[in-house]
Amino acid sequence: MDEHFKYGSIGAEVDGFPYSIWRELPTIFADDLPNGFAEFGFLTEEGHDLPIGVSVRRIGVPRVGFNCGTCHVSAYRLNGEEHLVMGAPANALNLQAYITFLTTAATDDRLTADAVIEAAEANGRPPGFLEKMVLRFVVFPRLGEQVAGLKDSLAWLGTRPAHGPGRTDAGNFWRERWGLEPDKDSRVGTVDFPSVWNQRIRLDGWFHWDGNNASLDERNISAALAGGAQEWLLERHSIDRISDWLMDFPPPAFPVPYDEALATEGRVIYEREACDSCHDPGAAKLGQVTSSDILGTDRERTGLFDEIMVRYFRTVGEKYSWQFRNYRVTDGYANMPLDGIWMRAPYLHNGSVPTLADLLAPPNQRPASFFRGCGDFDPVTVGFICSDGFQFDTRLTGNGNSGHVYGTGLPEAEKNALLEYLKSL
Ligand code: HEC
Ligand code: HEC
Repeated sequence: MDEHFKYGSIGAEVDGFPYSIWRELPTIFADDLPNGFAEFGFLTEEGHDLPIGVSVRRIGVPRVGFNCGTCHVSAYRLNGEEHLVMGAPANALNLQAYITFLTTAATDDRLTADAVIEAAEANGRPPGFLEKMVLRFVVFPRLGEQVAGLKDSLAWLGTRPAHGPGRTDAGNFWRERWGLEPDKDSRVGTVDFPSVWNQRIRLDGWFHWDGNNASLDERNISAALAGGAQEWLLERHSIDRISDWLMDFPPPAFPVPYDEALATEGRVIYEREACDSCHDPGAAKLGQVTSSDILGTDRERTGLFDEIMVRYFRTVGEKYSWQFRNYRVTDGYANMPLDGIWMRAPYLHNGSVPTLADLLAPPNQRPASFFRGCGDFDPVTVGFICSDGFQFDTRLTGNGNSGHVYGTGLPEAEKNALLEYLKSL
């Protein structure tokens, strides 16, 4: 099943890049992609031609698409060793940079049928006569047209703060699809990828970062549609299998021994500070929304999902049994379980706080800017150590790191105990 999660199709290849061209891009654009698609943070495994999160399927010609593993598989490095974690937020994946590369490459002078054929031959997979004809007379002529349309539909992306690794815009792709012209304003729906394990404890309750949907089915299907699937090609069977599998898929255990006695002390503080009342399975407030007036975290994401969005969401899947009926407007963010929280850095819905230690610091002491997208795990502060790559600026629209001040006023020793407890979740 995890093979399917990482490489299987969910029906998202419809507008995908033709595979015969895509796989030669790292050769043709070797200057831009010295590490191939890993340059964008895609993970690879031995014995697989495709990176994790990329599937191939024939729609006319074989095309590449996204699947659940694109955004929901990650890795951490510890003592020089890399460990894959299924269901974890793809912290290093820079989806925006990848999409921008594909749309730019498609109209680059270096990309010609001859260049693809030459690269394929150099890579030991010389195309046959028919393949060459298809490439020259079917695939290439359409590529320009297809990509021109895509480029237009992504114009809004360039007018907002870059997502960087580990994030995407949860609202504006939909708005573009519905003709709501996101290019005409500057509203931001950027979110950190969430974890998707342990869905059973998320069955009853309103989830998505802003708690806008109470149906697990709709959360799964909307994810597939957002990943590029079309209503008519939606692989219901495949998505249902994944959904069943995620139901009890366990969060990863903290990768090094932690101080259990200290964690037990931390649990007491956790309860005293009422963290459990919002975050623990079984708590009345789990899966409910805390208003931004109380919470104080960045409001862009929750503000973007307004009545107009909800009205359009209710038209999704109109002709199908699964038509969306469960979207609503909220004014804050959902109280979610903290299972496997150590592997969910950076923190908050917009990924604006790099470590758990930083989240326990008062907002004005949290880093105003930091690098993200690295895989080196720091078991002390609980987050990723990052000193180059994409610089995240919390002063930009949608990137604010304010709010969620719970626990930030505790004495240092109590914070340490609380942090130790969070490692155990
Ligand atoms: C392009 C990246 C991407 C792909 C592909 C993707 N997701 Fe997601 N997923 C997200 C983002 C981003 C969110 C958070 C959206 C929000 O709340 O604003 C999310 C949220 C979810 C949630 C809700 C999590 C919660 O706790 O609120 C579930 C469940 C989920 N995805 C499952 C899936 C499944 C199953 C697939 C494959 C069918 C999938 N996702 C494919 C990016 C993706
Ligand atoms: C009133 C409800 C409430 C209380 C009390 C509360 N939290 Fe939260 N917590 C939230 C909400 C809502 C979010 C999401 C905020 C956002 O992303 O903007 C959150 C986010 C978090 C996150 C980050 C989750 C992620 O995936 O990035 C952690 C960690 C966390 N809380 C720990 C704690 C701890 C520890 C305490 C107690 C000291 C606590 N919380 C108290 C509601 C609460």
